[in-house]
Amino acid sequence: MEKLSYVGKSLPRKDAEIKATGAAQYAADREFSGMLHAAAVRSPRPRIKILSISDAKARKVPGYVTLVTHKDIKGVNKWPVVMQDYPFLPEGEARFAGETVALVVAGTARAARKAASLVEIKYRELPSVDDPLKALEKGAVKIYGKDNVISSFVIKKGSVDGAFAKAAFTVEGEFSTNYQVHAYLETQGSIAVPEAGGGMTVHSSTQCPFYVLDAVAAALGLPYHKVKVLQTVTGGGFGGKEDVPALVASHAALCAAKTGRPVKLIYGRKEDFQSMSKRHPGWARVAYAADRNGKITACRVKYVLDGGAYSTLSPIVLWRGTVHAAGPYKIPNVDIETFAAATNKVPAGAFRGFGQPQICFAQESLIDELAGKAGLDPVQFRLKNLLNPGDRTVTSQRLKSSCGLSELVQAVRKRSGWDKKAGSPRVRGDIASGIGFSAAYYGVGLGAKGRYLDRAGAYVNVYKDSSVNVNVGNAEMGQGALTVLAQIAAETLNAPYESVRVEEVDSSKVPDSGPTVASRTTLMSGNAIIEAATPIRERVFRTAYSMLTGMGADASEKMIAAGGVFSMGGKSVPFKAVVAECWSRRLKMAEQGWYAAPRTTFRMRDGQGDAYVIYSYSADAAEVEVDLKTGVTRVKKIWAAYDVGKIVNPRLALGQAQGGILQGMSWALYENLVYKNGIMVNPNFTDYVIATTADKPEYDITFIEKPYAEGPYRAKGMGEVPLIGVAPAVANAIKNACGARVKSVPLLPEKVWKELKKG
Ligand code: MOS
Repeated sequence: MEKLSYVGKSLPRKDAEIKATGAAQYAADREFSGMLHAAAVRSPRPRIKILSISDAKARKVPGYVTLVTHKDIKGVNKWPVVMQDYPFLPEGEARFAGETVALVVAGTARAARKAASLVEIKYRELPSVDDPLKALEKGAVKIYGKDNVISSFVIKKGSVDGAFAKAAFTVEGEFSTNYQVHAYLETQGSIAVPEAGGGMTVHSSTQCPFYVLDAVAAALGLPYHKVKVLQTVTGGGFGGKEDVPALVASHAALCAAKTGRPVKLIYGRKEDFQSMSKRHPGWARVAYAADRNGKITACRVKYVLDGGAYSTLSPIVLWRGTVHAAGPYKIPNVDIETFAAATNKVPAGAFRGFGQPQICFAQESLIDELAGKAGLDPVQFRLKNLLNPGDRTVTSQRLKSSCGLSELVQAVRKRSGWDKKAGSPRVRGDIASGIGFSAAYYGVGLGAKGRYLDRAGAYVNVYKDSSVNVNVGNAEMGQGALTVLAQIAAETLNAPYESVRVEEVDSSKVPDSGPTVASRTTLMSGNAIIEAATPIRERVFRTAYSMLTGMGADASEKMIAAGGVFSMGGKSVPFKAVVAECWSRRLKMAEQGWYAAPRTTFRMRDGQGDAYVIYSYSADAAEVEVDLKTGVTRVKKIWAAYDVGKIVNPRLALGQAQGGILQGMSWALYENLVYKNGIMVNPNFTDYVIATTADKPEYDITFIEKPYAEGPYRAKGMGEVPLIGVAPAVANAIKNACGARVKSVPLLPEKVWKELKKG
């Protein structure tokens, strides 16, 4: 066993003080001399042909500077994301209500907004599509390609028809889920500052500074070395600051390039709702077959995501959903078909779980139904079928190590008192209580579909005074990356934790490290830091050893490096003195590190092969009370267990778990974004309800740390894992409590009530 000084300890967050005191500088807080402000002019209708854009009235607003349209784009008018179908600014057609059609620049934010409201768009309305299933029908209006399909995947193995024909028990059901809004406290925002000599520095609230770099360079037609992206303190992301900040930053940069002045673009909440990414609404038809002994023999899935008007991240979100669509079970026969369909609505994208929560809700609800048909308790049924080390997933990937799923299920079963509660739901007066279960797995990192981006760099610099600066390419967005990565750097160097600083991303200091997504930051940036720090560590350790022997230490004893001190044979020397000696010996005290994820072998043709390098796991039990008169559900308690490998900071991990559970519960029960005829009806926090601390359930959280040999200090990844299994656990608990099987998220009171009336 390694003895660790910093990894595995609940050390204080590096950014706690600046955030708690309000000293943190978010994008909106930054000022530059001569700075102007931009505001967007947005499409009023779901699909329009733009005939003209006039700023005749806007010009009268005091402080008005200019109008920016696609004609001002010096580069290519295609935002580089996965596919290149989204123009920075539309030329002929705008494809969803809320799409940025043009920008105005003015002396103040207020003047810019006023002027933007006075810009007149002359347009002709075009036929539009607002339903993803209708979009896929043969006669549908074509709004995307030849069939409205943005992206499609399959996983095919064995003989599904044969297995269903022979099955002892089968289940089938259709499930749907609605949007989820990220509800980050800080709306989208960016400031672009023109540099002497024709460059552009962009300050951006983002998870993905290198996506911003790609986009700004493309929009301005500049080489990358003339663009610098500085990530500002980022007030929440959850996936919502993955792709779209690149669009916002490009718009600010186009305005700055045209005016030659710094330009700030900060979104209001309503436009953020209307135009920035969301969790995809999902629809799925799932069927399972099992044999007489309760072993799952086959799974059939058709899964459709509502991609919105442009593809953005839909192909990758859909792929992740595809891989995980059958759940964490051994299933020999599988037929999974998935589609992302285009509609004239806001482009949907990344949100914690990334295409998995939607399909997990469907398949884990059905697993309960299947257990019921087989006459087995839902937990016993899962234990019979779960993936264990050595088993193969539906893509035929063998799980070689670090798979604690069965232990998680057992832990939650025991801690929740499952065996006593599950068989005996209670009714007292109008209140029915019940308990529900779910299990899930999560491929950490980008996997086969994102393999070219799955690498990360780091720069570690130990100054003369022994303070340490670390640059990485992945972003802090509230999840604790700066803290966890500082712990990893401190551990590797044996530097005191207080002396290590990890900076927000500066695209000029580290190589493109891919996006900060897919629960990959601890693993990828952590390993890059270890690679950078290891040669420095060797120099520091060798120097410490020679200092200690020089001091007369007994060299027959082993040198101990712990807590920023080196000691041997009764003598000791602190990191600070060792670093001073290294510098006087003119040793190299700064290094670059790089980590590339191991190869994956997934084939797109039949969906077979290794999809992800490693998986994290979760098990959830939810206890609910349902008011039989109103259908209102209250979640009383959630027991959860996670295998995310080694926990680097237990208190932060607990925070991630609690936050993920609450966000998952909020999506499951409350969040209901409504579109009518292609127009978003409730783009605000008055009418779009999310869970607050007043709704929070009691938490009981367990970590079972199955070490991952390739991970930094054996860690995997955890950011998204706690959200994924919450909705089906709640839905299964409602069913257990009162018999209502609600197949659509959010599990609103009226839906529960309707099922109760049916029963
Ligand atoms: Mo994340 S939802 O992979 O930004």
